[in-house]
Amino acid sequence: MTDEPDDLTGVSRRPVGPGESARAQRSWWDAQADAYLDEHGAFLGDARFVWGPEGLSEADAHLLGDVAGRRVLEVGAGAAQCARWLLAAGAEPVALDLSGAMLRRGHELGVRAGLVVPLVQADAAALPFAAGSFDLACSAYGAVPFVADSAAVMREVARVLRPGGWWVFSVTHPLRWSFPDDPGEAGLVATQPYFDRTPYVEQGPDGVATYVEHHRTIGDRVREVTGAGLQLLDLVEPEWPWDNTRTWGGWSPLRGRVVPGTAIFVCGKPA
Ligand SMILES: C[S@@+](CC[C@H](N)C(=O)[O-])C[C@H]1O[C@@H](n2cnc3c(N)ncnc32)[C@H](O)[C@@H]1O
Repeated sequence: MTDEPDDLTGVSRRPVGPGESARAQRSWWDAQADAYLDEHGAFLGDARFVWGPEGLSEADAHLLGDVAGRRVLEVGAGAAQCARWLLAAGAEPVALDLSGAMLRRGHELGVRAGLVVPLVQADAAALPFAAGSFDLACSAYGAVPFVADSAAVMREVARVLRPGGWWVFSVTHPLRWSFPDDPGEAGLVATQPYFDRTPYVEQGPDGVATYVEHHRTIGDRVREVTGAGLQLLDLVEPEWPWDNTRTWGGWSPLRGRVVPGTAIFVCGKPA
């Protein structure tokens, strides 16, 4: 906070609509793409598919089943590391993200790795694809925690999946909402009501949001999935592995041993 009376810079909890939220995400991820990849690029790999800071990989977890020959949409792909892993595994991936800068980094990494995937810049809440275009859809912390209307994302993914298709997405475990985003001891003390869905907002001097996170309880997420006509097949809560000594923001070995950090929803569209 500054002391200027008209400077609204700061962090708050307040309602944010879909338009303000999408504008904030796009400009934040555009501005932060290089710094984000400098910090996390080595962990994410050029063509690796990890579901979250615990390091659970799709190569080990097989949550998407057999991907060879499948048309796969990665939602909120960032620099498209997961999509490149899918391509290397024989799938036909498309990587979608709101941020042009993240996709540009994805293109550079794809050329470097010799694994170039189609990249699409669009909002996850309005997918530019025909109904039934994909066999599978996936998202590793992409878009879902960042959109004001995550129910719309569920409906859109359900629409573009073929009957019998699967949608697997990971998000920050909803329980984490109650705790400060601190990798140390302070991050183990609940300070925020789990049931308060008011978004976390960082805003600039004009009071306009520059970064937003939206909370849903586990029950909310289940209802958004089933409300879109999908079935919830599994809910995976990866445990923190003993050999992961890495801290990622508020995710750390210390907290990971006590509180779940990631929730992975495995969903299917009825055949
Ligand atoms: C934490 S990154 C996840 C990407 C990748 N799996 C990773 O771990 O780096 C979140 C991504 O979601 C994207 N995103 C945020 N809101 C979005 C939206 N409404 N539609 C599509 N992508 C969005 C951001 O641009 C960003 O690239």
